Amino acid sequence: MPLRHRTTLTQYLIEERRRFPNSKGNFNALILDVALACKAIARAVAMGELGGLYGDHAAEAGGAINVQGETQKKLDVLSNDLFIRMNEWGGHLAGMASEEMDHPYQIPKPNPRGKYLLVFDPLDGSSNIDVNVSVGSIFSVLRAPQDAIDSGRDLTEQDFLQPGATQAAAGYALYGPTTMLVLTVGNGVSAFTLDPNLGEFMLTHPRLKVPEDTQEFAINASNSRFWEPPIKRYVDECLAGKSGARGKDFNMRWIASMVAEAHRILMRGGVFMYPKDNKDPSKAGRLRLLYEANPIGMIMEQAGGRASTGREPMLSVKPSGLHQRIGLVFGSKNEVERIERYHREPVEIENNTPLFAERTLFRD
Ligand code: F6P
Repeated sequence: MPLRHRTTLTQYLIEERRRFPNSKGNFNALILDVALACKAIARAVAMGELGGLYGDHAAEAGGAINVQGETQKKLDVLSNDLFIRMNEWGGHLAGMASEEMDHPYQIPKPNPRGKYLLVFDPLDGSSNIDVNVSVGSIFSVLRAPQDAIDSGRDLTEQDFLQPGATQAAAGYALYGPTTMLVLTVGNGVSAFTLDPNLGEFMLTHPRLKVPEDTQEFAINASNSRFWEPPIKRYVDECLAGKSGARGKDFNMRWIASMVAEAHRILMRGGVFMYPKDNKDPSKAGRLRLLYEANPIGMIMEQAGGRASTGREPMLSVKPSGLHQRIGLVFGSKNEVERIERYHREPVEIENNTPLFAERTLFRD
């Protein structure tokens, strides 16, 4: 195959930086360190059973549970360590926070401290690790509060509680048949494919756009009995297809790796829902605001899609906790807006709709 010239991630970042003549390159160096962590995780994931990295962390000791109350996999712990190791030395960060750590991670002395915060889910979709289905890493870059930058003080949880609209950058790496890095630095969304021979991320999908309309939705239907009426209504209308209110047939997908669902939606449109439901009243949703909903939300919005809690735009939510959960709906703009509208409209509970009627797929 003839060699085709492609822009590398480094070239892309340098070209983006030219928009900011005063920038010193810290931001680009930070993104490249994140990309390096993702490449190292991709290698570990690709080794699978051969790397001895399947299974639960500390399984012999009964398994370790993270702050979310979820069992940590060996690869969760390794991925978290890789993110920390690759990013703690460069001097670009004031601190980090992750799904796998209860509290903010302080940059150890004598490493210099910088002006950005890195928040990440080192390995999203962990339930898929041991079954060789795509997983990914999600990250969000925020600016540290000015007094923390000036003083170099330790960070508090409060320093990270910034609405998604303030993110300086966001992205994810997808460890699938190919490894991809999808990135926004606030100027659209571009995707890079890892060239395994060169070890470089190459720009393969510039200026991605999420189609505004779709006929594909993703939701974990085993939760249907816990859904709130607007979600029931939306899904029910999709299932009713051509003969129902929507007048067209819909397709459904559920991978159980949000990164993989986000990627499919970025490539061909669709809508993803993990809404707030009544399953566990102590939880406002399943997914986490700071390192899942906000970065994916920024990517969707930057690609012309939309991200929402169902009730308000995701990026305007003021966080109240580092590991806060939230209901999340994202994807093709017109569908997400429709779901938001259903949340505003007075509800008629449609007990006789196909989803809840006698001969439904989801009934015992
Ligand atoms: O932790 C997040 C996550 O793994 C997402 O990637 C995925 O969308 C979701 O959980 C899957 O949830 P469930 O197990 O309910 O299908």
